[in-house]
Amino acid sequence: PLPLRILGIDTSCDDTGVGIVELAEGRVTVLANRVWSQAVHAQYGGVMPELASREHVERIDQIMGDALHEAGLSVGDIGAVAATSGPGLVGALLVGLMYGKGLAQALNVPFHAAHHLEGHIFAAASEADLRAPFLALVVSGGHTHLFDVPRDGEYVLVGATRDDAAGEAFDKVARLAGLGYPGGPAISEAATRGDPKAVPFKEPLKGQSGFDFSFSGLKTAALLAHRAGATPENLAASFQRAAVQTLVNTTVRAAQSTGRTTVVVSGGVAANRALRDAFAATGLHVVFPGKGLNTDNGAMIALAGAAAIQAGRPASDLNGGATAYAP
Ligand code: KG4
Ligand code: ZN
Repeated sequence: PLPLRILGIDTSCDDTGVGIVELAEGRVTVLANRVWSQAVHAQYGGVMPELASREHVERIDQIMGDALHEAGLSVGDIGAVAATSGPGLVGALLVGLMYGKGLAQALNVPFHAAHHLEGHIFAAASEADLRAPFLALVVSGGHTHLFDVPRDGEYVLVGATRDDAAGEAFDKVARLAGLGYPGGPAISEAATRGDPKAVPFKEPLKGQSGFDFSFSGLKTAALLAHRAGATPENLAASFQRAAVQTLVNTTVRAAQSTGRTTVVVSGGVAANRALRDAFAATGLHVVFPGKGLNTDNGAMIALAGAAAIQAGRPASDLNGGATAYAP
């Protein structure tokens, strides 16, 4: 069979992402991945949904053109289209979703609606052939979700954060320490110059039998340490160590409990060097997304589409809508 080129679109929040993957002889390769990160929100200190939608409308044509150029393809070479249908900001999602449906219809190719978290998980398919069963930890600015994937396409939520998402905690601690935004990269950079044992943090939810996460206690402890005079570098190193420990320990316990030996770790926080090193030391088979595929992007949605196609799932209904973030 000829190679199938799948174009993926993500406009769930404030990044306009278009990526292209190739599916050939059961193997997937990322051909292009272009992301337009909207700068307009910085002046408001948070994402303005209406502005996000408008920026997606203004940029999506250009970003698709850039992705086709990067892949060395023309639009007629695309054999399937995937777009995120949720969860996300509904107005923002609709831009990419409608664009993707229109493109699929114009090209007369199948359309696949993708779940944003399935996209984050399948971002790791750029690095390894992802076949169930496995565990998947999605750690981003909006999510801290631990899934068991017993069979292809089946997701059992075994743990989640009870308060802040992991990335959100990195962002908040960076802000209080005066390290800037986005907080994840700022913390990890400052941590290289700090002492991870300078500030003692208590392990969140210590002794729980389940696999939930909590970051609000670490955030409060960081604030108190900051007020007591801890340096930004020591605070960054100590907070990062505590956050990494709780993510890794909880995931390892879930792996032991479910008997899974492969773990996918994805989402923006999966770019963290200390987290990667700690997971590598667990002895589990840990798979991370390739470069540029951790934070929101279109290639991960194309990879989720490729997985749906490989699993023989039918194309999506062109009347399907977008779903908001869970309250
Ligand atoms: O996946 P993502 O781009 O967006 C969401 O869907 O939320 O993740 C963004 C989050 C931010 O909170 C950012 O601070 C965090 O990922 N992040 C990191 C690192 N790079 C990005 N956190 C820790 N270490 C990093 N190196
Ligand atoms: Zn995301």
